[in-house]
Amino acid sequence: MKQISEHLFAVPVVDEETDLFESLWPLDDGVNYNAYVVRGTDGAAIIDTVHESLSDEFLSAVFQVVRPEEIKYVVVNHMEPDHSSSLSQLLEKAPNAKVVISQTGATLFSLPGDVLPVRDGDTLSLGDVTLRFVHTPWTHWPETMVTFVPEDRVVFTCDLFGAYGAYPDLSADDWDAYLLEARRYYVTVLSKYARFVSAALGKVRALQPKIIAPGHGILYSGERLEQILDLYGGWAENKAEGRILILYGSMYGSVYSKVDSLVHALESMGVTVDALDLSREDWSYAMTFVLGADAVVVAYPTYDADVFPPVRFFLETVKDKGLLAGKPIYVIEAHGWASSEQKIRALLDGLDVREVFSFSAKQPLPLDAIGALAQKLAGIVQQHA
Ligand code: FEO
Repeated sequence: MKQISEHLFAVPVVDEETDLFESLWPLDDGVNYNAYVVRGTDGAAIIDTVHESLSDEFLSAVFQVVRPEEIKYVVVNHMEPDHSSSLSQLLEKAPNAKVVISQTGATLFSLPGDVLPVRDGDTLSLGDVTLRFVHTPWTHWPETMVTFVPEDRVVFTCDLFGAYGAYPDLSADDWDAYLLEARRYYVTVLSKYARFVSAALGKVRALQPKIIAPGHGILYSGERLEQILDLYGGWAENKAEGRILILYGSMYGSVYSKVDSLVHALESMGVTVDALDLSREDWSYAMTFVLGADAVVVAYPTYDADVFPPVRFFLETVKDKGLLAGKPIYVIEAHGWASSEQKIRALLDGLDVREVFSFSAKQPLPLDAIGALAQKLAGIVQQHA
């Protein structure tokens, strides 16, 4: 537990047991669930809770700073269980508490206790401190909102600005490593809702917060607060960062040799390039490279006359998350007895597929094709610079 301003206390708990967030994304260094206590002259509020596996630790920290009967409100900014599944346990101990949730949340979910739906901009008073609710729908789920305390200029944003990793004191020594975990949280959890994230960013900026207090990760203030807002702006736009991404699979080396030639050709032109082997790369890390790529090259051997499975399923996922939208895409396919060109074109339908290069032992790729592709990719990076 940590006091963060005159009226506010943070109650972070660290989950070091869960191996995969949402049973999908690796938690090599754990994850925080951050809840908060707001204490005023006329009662207290709890902002979000934590995963139920850590509710004992959470409740004992909360009751270090507030008596159960003082709690007037429990604010549910977001209903996903990592933030809400200790709600029942908290309400059992806090008999006077009303559950505050957006109108959408009150409509969609069945909640325990006495529920108080709030509209965008509604406020509740705790005497010398106010809670203002700002609806930010689809900053993960449709019901999401942020809660602002104007007296201390602190905004509680739940998933927005969250990060993977364990931060028991809500700070990070290695900012670059932290930002990678924030980026990984963004691509895995929020990127599908990028346009809503952009809208929410505008609303958060308009509040002019001094502190951003998310449901995962660290507290942001000063320069880091500005940086995370700026980074989120770029991420939500999927803004080109001046690099080419090659996503590939290779069974017997023929695809890898083309990838290697393309990497060398690009590097010799001074172009930054990342080549990721999707048979081995963790998807969540690979997704952090898709975000911000200027153009994407997809290279694979056919498998059962179809797109190589690790490439196929990854592309389906990142397309669904909107991460490939607007990016020039080039495909290099090594085929056996049948090409998968129609299948990859169907898979990438609606995206900016520029060319599909298909080769085999009987139909080799022309010698200069890789060099010409590298030129085109370099031109794209230059155009974005
Ligand atoms: Fe951290 Fe959408 O839950």
